[in-house]
Amino acid sequence: MLTDLKRSLQNVDPMPLSDQRFDESHEWFEGQSNQQAQILGWLRRFGKSQIERRADDLAANGETFRVLSVGCGSGILDLPLIKTLADQIESGRNQTDVKDPVIHYTGIDPNPVACGRFRDEFDNLGTESVELSVLEETVESYDHNQSMDLTHVVHSMYYFGDPAVSLRTLIQNVADDGELVIFQAPKGELNRLADCFWQGHVSDPIWFSADLEKHLQETGISFTRSCLEAEVDVTDCFDDSCPKGRLTFDFIVQSDCEQLSAPIRRSVLEHLRSISRIDGQKIYAPHPVDIFVIHQSDEAQIQSDARVACSP
Ligand SMILES: C[S@@+](CC[C@H](N)C(=O)[O-])C[C@H]1O[C@@H](n2cnc3c(N)ncnc32)[C@H](O)[C@@H]1O
Repeated sequence: MLTDLKRSLQNVDPMPLSDQRFDESHEWFEGQSNQQAQILGWLRRFGKSQIERRADDLAANGETFRVLSVGCGSGILDLPLIKTLADQIESGRNQTDVKDPVIHYTGIDPNPVACGRFRDEFDNLGTESVELSVLEETVESYDHNQSMDLTHVVHSMYYFGDPAVSLRTLIQNVADDGELVIFQAPKGELNRLADCFWQGHVSDPIWFSADLEKHLQETGISFTRSCLEAEVDVTDCFDDSCPKGRLTFDFIVQSDCEQLSAPIRRSVLEHLRSISRIDGQKIYAPHPVDIFVIHQSDEAQIQSDARVACSP
């Protein structure tokens, strides 16, 4: 079925989403899935345990906990994470403690619409313990001049120009005993669909989780891998007249579906139905994600330095 779709797409240039449409369709899509809540739960537990581990250092004046969110988008994931980390810091403070921010949270994303929303929403959080910088930068353009206690890359590595190079930069900038966490989808049934369209937008193959794992193994970087199973409700995609369904459809194919011919849209829906679970009136597509954790130890640093030294 996908072979036919790929053939039909050969002579078509699917139109990438505008910044506004990407931001809108991303938020809607995540709302239809139970994946983001699981990612958030995972990151909350992980971040809290990292802060607990550093509690004594952070209690002393001047010590900060640095977080980098790569491809933060509008902060729909970051804001609740920031709130949790801030609550953790604030609950451990005495009345007399200095109230300077102890968490420096940096979000980078090239989408100005999303960055603007992130900054505005953060102002409503009203937290004293977090200093936020949201920068309209890509992983490639950002000046990685500070080491991070926690760097997370949630569903943004697909968009990196050269994932291997950016990965090395990110690892080199993780502080001793800090972590780089990457959430990357497998090339499962849903993403095979996205990949058909994506290939028209980029010149190099997109990295899915198996590509990342292979790269980490080949370059000798230690990591752990686990998986979150999830599903996304795609029911509305099958209703042509539903604007919300068009948002889900657009995000799945990462393209403006209004610009696609009726046969191409039909092929997408046929594939979507064939991979989905039907529950009464609802249609759910599988939406798993893999989690990679790279812990910064001396060994990792030495290996990464050696590779830099050996590279041509
Ligand atoms: C699927 S969204 C994920 C947003 C957020 N991490 C989340 O999970 O809610 C991917 C984000 O990566 C951003 N992005 C695209 N190219 C990028 C690059 N080269 N470096 C960093 N981020 C990039 C996009 O603008 C988009 O906001």
